[in-house]
Amino acid sequence: MIVAGVMSGTSADGINVAIAEIMGRGFGTRLRLLAHHEFRFPAAVRNKILSLMNAEHARVSDLSQLNFLLAELYAKAVRNSAKRAGVHLALAGCHGQTIYHQGDATNFLGAKIASTWQTGEGAILAARLGVPVVSDFRTADMAAGGKGAPLVPYLDYLVLRDRRRGRIVQNLGGIGNLSAIPASAKPEDVIAFDTGPGNMVIDQTMEKLYGRRYDRDGRIAASGQVLDGVVHWAMRLRFFSQAPPRTAGREEFGREFVAAFLKRCGRAKSQDVVATATLLTARSIGDALRRFVIKRGDFKDYIVSGGGAENPTLMRMIADEVTPLGLTLRRSDELGVPSEAKEALAFAVLAYQTWHRRPSNIPSATGAKRPAILGKVSYP
Ligand SMILES: Nc1ncnc2c1ncn2[C@@H]1O[C@H](COP(=O)(O)OP(=O)(O)O)[C@@H](O)[C@H]1O
Ligand SMILES: [Mg+2]
Repeated sequence: MIVAGVMSGTSADGINVAIAEIMGRGFGTRLRLLAHHEFRFPAAVRNKILSLMNAEHARVSDLSQLNFLLAELYAKAVRNSAKRAGVHLALAGCHGQTIYHQGDATNFLGAKIASTWQTGEGAILAARLGVPVVSDFRTADMAAGGKGAPLVPYLDYLVLRDRRRGRIVQNLGGIGNLSAIPASAKPEDVIAFDTGPGNMVIDQTMEKLYGRRYDRDGRIAASGQVLDGVVHWAMRLRFFSQAPPRTAGREEFGREFVAAFLKRCGRAKSQDVVATATLLTARSIGDALRRFVIKRGDFKDYIVSGGGAENPTLMRMIADEVTPLGLTLRRSDELGVPSEAKEALAFAVLAYQTWHRRPSNIPSATGAKRPAILGKVSYP
């Protein structure tokens, strides 16, 4: 079956489309990536998404319109991608854009509520593509008692598990998250959680201090000196000592955190602030590995994907954290999964399972009480 997967992450930088041929069922699923493409959001769309994620400023009419607009943009991206690949799709899976995610129940109107919201209307996408679309994957996991994230470990387990080598698979999107898969692991042996910021804090400091979207090739961070005191301060955040399962988003590392972070940096040079934000990502990963992962298996590979893998300064800092733990730093590309395609590919595979009425959450990763069939199906 030819399936498209569509991802737009918390960085709100754009849309990733992966097209794969998928066969088999459940953990016996086999796949072949046929194509993957990236489409940047127009600046106005990106700015609107970022402002809507900030709950104080969200207008209901904008949220409603964005749901339909994003679906049109996703449809355009998928159609373009399928045309370039010269394939006819049978199914699509669309993660959508996360507007809000609260994985842990908090008090709301006297009830304990956890919730999540991904936008990008499946019905519009299905109509434009002419094939069934699976969307809104996270809610079913939450209904089963999970945190609704991370969901990519299903793909990691499927394609990157190894009989002899324990592997840690790290994605560096807006948020950083990892799947640790011991050698010869069963699905329930997978440990997965959000490590903390990926590029999100780096990007926001770049925006504030330089008016740029990100630190291209990590050049600014490379020219700065890390403010160790600020990293120590940030690492005392409750999130970092919280045992998995755990999830993070703009709720943890968005505007509010960055305002406090910049305040802590005081009058430091701008490049030092960016270097510090970059080390925070690396240190939070090293810390999470030492606290929650390394003791639970004999891990050999540390495999990186996502936009952060394009930042050599970040990669150098991460190498300094993981090498002493006996891990070899590798890119997912080396193992046949292109770094920028991995998450989109995951949603193609998840959609495929749903279409065949198969569960695709990993309960040990999300904290769900049971396997769940994820997503809602829209028909063209
Ligand atoms: N050449 C590069 N140099 C530094 N950072 C980069 C580079 N390319 C991408 N990035 C980072 O990757 C981010 C996008 O990563 P991505 O995996 O798309 O995240 P998300 O899944 O949150 O959308 C950008 O915002 C930027 O911080
Ligand atoms: Mg992205």
